[in-house]
Order: sequence, then C-alpha cells, then structure tokens
Amino acid sequence: MGSKKFFILTFGCQMNVYDSGRIAQILTARNYQPVHDPAGADLILLNTCSVREKPEKKVYSALGRFRTLKRKKPGLLIGVAGCVAQQEGEGLLARVPYLDFVLGTKELKKIPEILDRLERTAGRACAVALDGRIDPYRELPLFPAPGGPTAFVSTMQGCDNFCSFCVVPFVRGREVSRPSQDIREEIKALSEKGVKEVTLLGQNVNSYGRGTPGEPDFVGLLESIEKIPGIERIRFTTSHPKDLSAGLIGAFGRLSRLCEHIHLPLQSGSNHILERMNRGYTKEEYLERVQRLRAACPGISITTDIIVGFPGETEEDFRQTLEMLERIQFEEMFSFRYSDRPGTRASTFPAKIQEGSKQKRLTELQALQRGITQRRYKTWEGREAEILVEGPSKAGGEEKTGRTRANHIVNFPGASIAVGALVRVRIQKALAHSLRGELI
Ligand code: SAH
Ligand code: SF4
Ligand code: F3S
Repeated sequence: MGSKKFFILTFGCQMNVYDSGRIAQILTARNYQPVHDPAGADLILLNTCSVREKPEKKVYSALGRFRTLKRKKPGLLIGVAGCVAQQEGEGLLARVPYLDFVLGTKELKKIPEILDRLERTAGRACAVALDGRIDPYRELPLFPAPGGPTAFVSTMQGCDNFCSFCVVPFVRGREVSRPSQDIREEIKALSEKGVKEVTLLGQNVNSYGRGTPGEPDFVGLLESIEKIPGIERIRFTTSHPKDLSAGLIGAFGRLSRLCEHIHLPLQSGSNHILERMNRGYTKEEYLERVQRLRAACPGISITTDIIVGFPGETEEDFRQTLEMLERIQFEEMFSFRYSDRPGTRASTFPAKIQEGSKQKRLTELQALQRGITQRRYKTWEGREAEILVEGPSKAGGEEKTGRTRANHIVNFPGASIAVGALVRVRIQKALAHSLRGELI
C-alpha cells in the first residue's frame, strides 16, 4: 500500500510552528508524507491559535473550506490541534460535525493512538489533558527535521504570569522547562543537519529552569549552547520585561553567538493600564531596562508588542503609549486591537473600548512607528552587515534573502551563494520592512 498524505495548516506563534514540525515527524514515522495541496491529503490538521479573536476566527473559516473536501473524500480525516483545540475541547466536536479529532497542546504523543483508531473504525476522538508540570516533548522520540539553516527549539512550555488579557496560561498550562540536556541534544542534532541559527522559544524565557533543581538558569543555558559546534547564531523569544535579569542583559555583547536583538513586549505606555494588565513593571522600569540593554550592547535592536484599546484605556493612556514609542525608538512593533479572551480577567473588566476607537488608535500608533522604523532602517545605509542566507528572496530571480544579526531582512543579488552561507553585504537601501544590499 502506498503512503498516506498529510497537510498541516499552522496558525499563531513560533511555538505552533515548532509543534507542527514535531507533528510532521510523528506522521512521517507512520508512513505519511507531507503535501502542499490539502486536496491531495488523507489527513488535514489545523494547528491553531486563540490569542486574539482574529486568529481564532481564521480557524473556523479554514475548517469551512475543508468541509467540501471531506464531502468528496469521505475517508479524509480532519483534526484540530493547538490552542483553540485546548480551549474548546469536546465543544469543538459538537460545533464542527465533520471534525474527526481534537488534540490539546500537551497531547502530541497521542497522535499515533488516535490515528490507529480512526483509520480502522469510524468515530471521533478528543484528547485535551493539560494537568501538571509535564514536558510534552519528553515522550516524543524524534528531533524535528530542519527546513533550512534556521530552526526553532522549544525550551519551555506554558506560562505562569497570567497577564489579565492573555489566554496562553489557560491553553498552554503551567510553566515547565525542558531538561537542558534534551535541548542541547536537539540543537546538536540540528547542527549536524546543517542548522546554523537556533531561536529558543518560551513564553517567558527568563524563568527557564525555575523550579527545576539541578538545571541552569536561562543565561547558563545560553552559555552551554554557545559551545555547540556549528551553531553560529542564537536568538530567543520572548523575554518578559519584569524579569529581564542583569545576567541576561550582560549576556548581550558578552556571548559572541547571541544575536543583537531582543523582543521585549511593552503592551502599553501607561502605568495605570500596565497595572490592570498585571504586567508587573512600570514604564519607568521598562525604560531603565532599555537603557541598560543599550549600554551593554550599543547596536542592539529592540522590538515590541503593543495592545491598543485595553478596557478602560483613555486617550491620555494612549498618548503615553505614543510617547514611549517616541522615547524608545523601537526597530519594529507588532500591534493589536485588544480582544476579550475566554476565562481571562480582563474579559470581565468594564469600560470596554469601541472597535472604532481601537482602530483609530491602532492606525495612529502604526503611522508613528512606521516613521521610526524607517529612520532606524535608514541608519543602515552604507554600513556592512553579516547575513545568514535563508533562501531565494520573495522577488525570485537571482535574489537571495537572509537576516542580519539584529534581525533585519536583507535581499541581495547572489545567484551563486548557497543557502546556509554566512556572507558580508553592504547595505544600499532601506525599504519599509527590509534592506537591500550587495555582496562585499
Ligand atoms: N509571551 C509573550 C506574548 C505572547 S502573545 C509576552 O509575554 O509578551 C503575543 C502578543 O499578543 C502579546 O504580546 C500581546 O501584545 C498580544 N495579545 C495577547 N492577548 C491579547 C488580547 N487579548 N488582545 C489583543 N492582543 C493580545
Ligand atoms: Fe501571556 Fe503574559 Fe504569559 Fe506572555 S507573559 S504568555 S502575555 S500571560
Ligand atoms: Fe497563539 Fe497558542 Fe501561540 S494562543 S500565540 S498559538 S501559544
């Protein structure tokens, strides 16, 4: 019998991208092969995100599209994994009658068992246990296959911070660090397959190792990864401003492979809103951390996340966010309109902001940051940078694309340059969200 085909559609953050890689490996070990067109698949899996209303809605519209495929091919299995699966559980089976299975964020190990059952007999399955501080990757035998010279590596699961707007602690469970030995072995295996850059993932990497006796802290983990041969660049995401340690600040500029970029979500520039968000820092503390980062590592690129229209956010609160953007001069910003998430404290807060006002604030915020990003990108013109070549550029042709250590995308003519090469380029021109360069 020929092998079966699977198609995975991934929504949400890098953790989901990582998990989809692990799922693909589990399926490949079961004689399934990946396909790029869902119409040819025997199994379609949606790996979902529920962090905001918009990504969650996308899941339902995607499911709607797959319904017709299922009508044409009754043997087709459709499953939902990830954070919406965790959030909705059995309810998702009730809501989507043609759905075959629901798989929670810590249940990847159950995939073989569920497929064994559903391939043989008609029926439906739901596995969404989330208890305890269990590392969900421990029971999975294989390392993720690299898709190029860069790879994500999970260092921890879950989050204990309970920011009042955030669903992550409810859908990813309590914080649990992976054993550092597992992380290093995974990175060694990736390196042997040609990976040059790893991005370490965790909702708050600063608490890596907390509550795990005998394990290093995050800086210790970084130091041990520095020594793995073949790994030229290390990145991580995300670090929470409230516990950005002096040790981690000092690691920038000290560890030669740690790239000069940090994603440090500010969320709001108003102390009143930060407190209601339960973020655990004031804008003054945030500013002080930014200053220390820039003192330790002058070239560091700082990017952020902002939420506009949090319940009770006044025009004055919003002005303070704009002011923080002016003062800090972030390299890039990701910004979102606040949306209520099930089970969160903020969803019960009064003084919800109208969608129209949220949109107006978002537009103003993004216009301000666009100018700042442009000015910062402009400072790169004429300078040299080291690029890790990631593949052909979107424009196609002879163009290649890669990133600087500070995480700027650079496109350059480089027909003969191999993917995975570290090259030096001179930046010629700054565009809206990328740079153009030429090989030196
Ligand atoms: N762990 C990261 C954030 C993960 S969620 C941290 O601690 O910052 C990614 C981003 O989504 C958040 O930084 C926040 O800006 C946004 N976000 C989360 N919940 C949201 C909500 N309910 N409404 C709008 N944006 C939200
Ligand atoms: Fe969500 Fe806050 Fe945890 Fe980030 S730190 S995942 S925003 S609860
Ligand atoms: Fe979304 Fe889950 Fe990541 S809610 S942001 S996919 S942890």
